[in-house]
Amino acid sequence: MKILAIESSCDETSVAVVEEREVLSNIISTQIAEHRIYGGVVPEIASRRHTEAISAVCDEALKQAGIEYSDIEAVAVTFAPGLIGALLVGVNFAKGLALSLGVPLIPVHHLRSHIAANYIAHKDLEPPFLCLLVSGGNTVIAEVTDYTKFKILGGTRDDAAGECFDKTARCMGLEYPGGVTLDKIATVSDFSKYPLPFPKLSGSEYDFSFSGLKTAVINQIHNASQKGIEIDVPVLCATVRERVCDMLIANTFRAAEEFGYKKIAVAGGVSANSELRRRMHEECEKRGFKLYYPPLKYCGDNAAMVGAQAIYEYRDGNISGSDLNATATLPIDYR
Ligand code: KG4
Repeated sequence: MKILAIESSCDETSVAVVEEREVLSNIISTQIAEHRIYGGVVPEIASRRHTEAISAVCDEALKQAGIEYSDIEAVAVTFAPGLIGALLVGVNFAKGLALSLGVPLIPVHHLRSHIAANYIAHKDLEPPFLCLLVSGGNTVIAEVTDYTKFKILGGTRDDAAGECFDKTARCMGLEYPGGVTLDKIATVSDFSKYPLPFPKLSGSEYDFSFSGLKTAVINQIHNASQKGIEIDVPVLCATVRERVCDMLIANTFRAAEEFGYKKIAVAGGVSANSELRRRMHEECEKRGFKLYYPPLKYCGDNAAMVGAQAIYEYRDGNISGSDLNATATLPIDYR
């Protein structure tokens, strides 16, 4: 089944043509350069740029896939969660297209599609498995019991891991999206130079909290500046990265042991982090677990992953009418 998939939840307008786990095309028009001027995504600008880009991106996706509009058998779209105005552009475009072509409209949850990015590269990956989902807006440990069945074991109580990277990087003077630069320039040397807390949470053993870490980094920067001391940015970057990885890895493996999972997938924008990948790999080797993560090109927001999830939503009967609406927040196990 040839699915045309659309993603517009944040600052990337993307359209892909996907057939099962095969990606026939995946066009991404990114707005990063424009949002960088403001140090983060400006929702109103994001919506406008999606509106301007979506038709051309869609035409290009069809061209690169070598198909016509009449060859499309279903239209899939990210409908939640995300920036509401940005989501609405994709949802309304998808509704119009599905209606005019007379094909089913498949609503796809953004976090489910991040997990599905793994299906594109790992044809052998099938549920059940445990997933660490880390992006700019979400940090979740979930059991993927089936392609469309999820059980949340833990999540962040405040900031997401990506947000923690982006905000601390910004305080160090790095450009948006800071997580990417922070990872590039981090220089591992002396982690004791900038002591950072490891938050202990009461309640769920699998929850996270990143706001204390973020504040601690900001305090380190302010203290240094008040004393006229220059911050060693690459070392502070490495220390933040180390501490975020400590938290993500500790909870993930605790959950895997407790619930008996030997297959672990990492997904979301932060799954591109080089140290997270290295340490997850090392830990999985040690314990005899199988690790999956998406290729770098499918870690960030893209429509190919939407198409990869859409086929399973379709088979599960998750099809919308033209009353489909966008939703800014929605848990992964909504259905
Ligand atoms: O999944 P994503 O593209 O967008 C959301 O759906 O949120 O994630 C974007 C996040 C940003 O916070 C960005 O800084 C972070 O992923 N990110 C990274 C790296 N690459 C992207 N964080 C740390 N290290 C990276 N290499």
